[in-house]
Amino acid sequence: MLHKKSIDSLIAESDGDQPKQLKRTLSSFNLIMLGIGAIVGAGIFSMTGIVAAENAGPAVTLSFVLAGVACAFCALCYAELASMIPVAGSAYTYAYATMGEFMAWIIGWDLVLEYALASATVAVSWSSYVIKLLARFHINLSPALTISPFQTIQLPDGQVLHGIVNLPAIFIVVVLSLILVRGTKQSATMNNVLVALKIAVVLVFIALGWSHINPANYTPYIPDNTGTFGSFGISGITRGAAIVFFGFIGFDAVSTAAQEAVNPKKGMPVGIIGSLLICTLLYVLFSHVMTGLVNYKDFAGDASPAATAFAVTGYHFLQDGLIVAILAGYTSVILVMLMGQSRVFYTMSNDGLLPRFFSSVHPTFRTPWKTTLFFMVFVGLLAGFVPISDLGHMVSIGTLFAFILVSVGVVVLRYTSPDIPRPFKTPGVPVIPALGILVCLYLMSGLPLASWGRLFIWMAAGVIIYFAYSRHHSKIRGAAKK
Ligand code: ALA
Repeated sequence: MLHKKSIDSLIAESDGDQPKQLKRTLSSFNLIMLGIGAIVGAGIFSMTGIVAAENAGPAVTLSFVLAGVACAFCALCYAELASMIPVAGSAYTYAYATMGEFMAWIIGWDLVLEYALASATVAVSWSSYVIKLLARFHINLSPALTISPFQTIQLPDGQVLHGIVNLPAIFIVVVLSLILVRGTKQSATMNNVLVALKIAVVLVFIALGWSHINPANYTPYIPDNTGTFGSFGISGITRGAAIVFFGFIGFDAVSTAAQEAVNPKKGMPVGIIGSLLICTLLYVLFSHVMTGLVNYKDFAGDASPAATAFAVTGYHFLQDGLIVAILAGYTSVILVMLMGQSRVFYTMSNDGLLPRFFSSVHPTFRTPWKTTLFFMVFVGLLAGFVPISDLGHMVSIGTLFAFILVSVGVVVLRYTSPDIPRPFKTPGVPVIPALGILVCLYLMSGLPLASWGRLFIWMAAGVIIYFAYSRHHSKIRGAAKK
C-alpha cells in the first residue's frame, strides 16, 4: 500500500509523442483559458448576492480576497508539482510519488467528487438557464422533461407535476463529451470562445456599472455582527470566504492537462497561477460594482442577484448578455471538469489501478475517448435523474481534501527528492504549504455534517474497490514482486 512511483519513471512515461500517448497541443495561453474556463461559473454569478445579504454586506469583496489568497497558497503548491511531474493525473499522481499507492488511490477516487460531481451539478444549473433563454423565444419544454424524477414542480394552475428526466442537462453533457473525444485542441478552441464571451460580459458590466454606483450603498462597508457567528462583522467575512470558495474551484484542473501541454514546465505555473490571479481580480471588481449598485440587504433571497444589479444600470442589453455569459460560463466549467475527470481516470488506469478500458487512447484523435464516453454516461445519468443541486458542498469538500494532500506533497518531496529539477518552486516552504493546509481545514470544518457523511460513504466504497481490484492489478506492485 505504500509503494511509491519514482519521479523519474513518471517523467519518462509522459515524455515523447507516441501514437498511444495524449497529444501535446496546449499553449500557455490555452492553459490560462482552461483555468478561467473552469473557474468562472456559478460561484460569481449566484453566490455573490447571497453572501452579501447574509454574511458580509459590501465586504463580500474581502471574502473574495480572502478565498483568493487561500487558493493562492494551494495554487503555488500545485504549480511546483505540476511543473516538476507534468503527468495527467494531477493530485493523484503527486500522491503516488509522495505518499504511496493507497493514498494515491484515495485522492484519485476523491477527485471524482470534484470533477464528475461538479460537471453534473453545473449541468443542472445550465439546464435551468437554458430553459429561461428558450422561454424568451417562446420555446417551452414540457416541465417534466426538465427536472429529475425525484422532484416535483408546481404549475401556474396549482397542479403538481412529477419530473421524468432533466433532458437539457443530459444534452449538454453529451455534446461536450463528444467534443472532448474529437480532440483536445478543438475542445480548447471552444473553451477559448466561451471564456472570451463570459469575460467580455463581466468586463462590460464592471465598466458600465461603475458610473452608476451609489456610494451610500457602501456604508457601512463591514456591517456590525448581529451576535451570531458568520452573520456580518469579521466572522461574516470569513464565513463568506468559505462559501465563495466554490467560485475559485477549477484552477487545479489545469494540472490535469499537463500531459497535453506543449511546454508543461512553463505552461503549468503560468496556467494555474495566471488563471487564479485574473479571476480573483475580476471577482473583486464584479462584487464591488454589484454591491455598489444595489444595497446588500436587497439581495436577500434573490436567486439571480447579478440580474437585479444589472437592471439598475438601465442598460437592458446587459440582461440578455448576462444569460449568455452565464450559459457560456457554465458550459466551459462543465467542459474543463469533464476533461479533468477523464485525465485522472486515464492515469489511474495506466498504473493498473483501474481497468485498461480507461486508458485507451483514440488512434486518430489521441484523446482518452473511452473514459470520456464512460463519464458522459455517468455524469449524464447523475445530471438527468438525480436531484443534485444540493451537492455543491460535496464538490468543495472533495476539492479541499485534494488541496491538502497536494500541499503536503510539496513539503514531502522537498525532503525525499531535493535534487529533482523544479522549474517552478513554491516560495516560503514549509510556511506557504502549511498555511494552505490550515486554510483548507478551516474551510472544510465549516461544511455541513451531511457532506462529511457522504464523503465518508464515497471513500468507503473507494477502499472496497481498492482491496477488491486495484491492489491486485497495480503495475508497480506487480513489478516489485518480480
Ligand atoms: N468555480 C466553478 C463555478 O463557480 C466551479 O461554477
